[in-house]
Amino acid sequence: MSHAPAAGVNRVDVEAPAKVNLFLRVLGRRDDGYHELQTLVAPIGLADTVSIRAGRDADARELSLSLSLEGEPALTQSVPADGSNLVLRAARELAEAAGVHGFAEVRLHKRVPAAAGLGGGSSDAAASLRALNELWGCGLATDELSAIGARVGSDVPALLADGPALASGRGEHVEAVPLPGFSCAVVMFDFAVSTADAFGWWDDDGGETGPDPQPSLATLTAGEGGGAWLEALRSGARNDLEAPVMKRHPVIRRVRDRLLERGAGAAIMCGSGPSVAAFFAEGGRLDESVAAELAGMSGRPVVTAGSWTPKAGA
Ligand code: C5P
Repeated sequence: MSHAPAAGVNRVDVEAPAKVNLFLRVLGRRDDGYHELQTLVAPIGLADTVSIRAGRDADARELSLSLSLEGEPALTQSVPADGSNLVLRAARELAEAAGVHGFAEVRLHKRVPAAAGLGGGSSDAAASLRALNELWGCGLATDELSAIGARVGSDVPALLADGPALASGRGEHVEAVPLPGFSCAVVMFDFAVSTADAFGWWDDDGGETGPDPQPSLATLTAGEGGGAWLEALRSGARNDLEAPVMKRHPVIRRVRDRLLERGAGAAIMCGSGPSVAAFFAEGGRLDESVAAELAGMSGRPVVTAGSWTPKAGA
């Protein structure tokens, strides 16, 4: 594909999937205030839609960016529509890096709640970077987009991987990994947890790092899926932010425990929480009556049909 600067106006609709963390290990606090981590991330079917109309204008003095939000008020009201939105920050960073003069109009249909541990804002930013790289004809490679994404948010590089990925550093080192297909349900809550707070609570509580997930990693990434895979996830995977976040929000622990009692193969808090993902073998799903009970505990409908399906030939 050629990457000559795009003339005229182009538009595209792209999906920005939520992510779940299969494990998240916090290794320690760094001098810059961020935390060194190791995490295994997978995109799932629940997704925002990012619709972008964009073009270049060599005569334009300024970059013109606009953003409008769509979706249920409960989802959009906590999302900023100004320049602090990660989509507009990503667009501005990309335009600066690639010397773009022109415009972008973004419509963002939210389905993934903000500050839920599901990477919603970061995924919107990742999808926008990929789309604008094409629409503006910037021609940047994925590692260049990833470096720009890391300036916008620590989760953005992993979400640019467009599939399961191991992330380390503060999130900027990303390695794509294979994962067998799985099904999951996601319990979301009617409250948010700020990522900065979750890492701060980890510090305050003495900063415990879980066991090295390396022994389970081979089974998780090379396994066939099904029972052995779920067992490796259940026994070897943990999220070091769970204990400090659950201590402040005990309902998350009650939901996690209930999911395990009611048949989930594994149940792990997503990122810095509060959402909890319940994992099943491919095709499995959470019983509707359990989903209704959990929605009563969490204050939000449970997404029962999340999944990761490897791409054909991957
Ligand atoms: O990178 P991002 O803006 O998403 O991070 C939000 C906050 O989460 C940071 O300001 C920092 O307090 C915390 N964080 C961290 N270590 C990471 C990622 C995020 O301490 N690896």
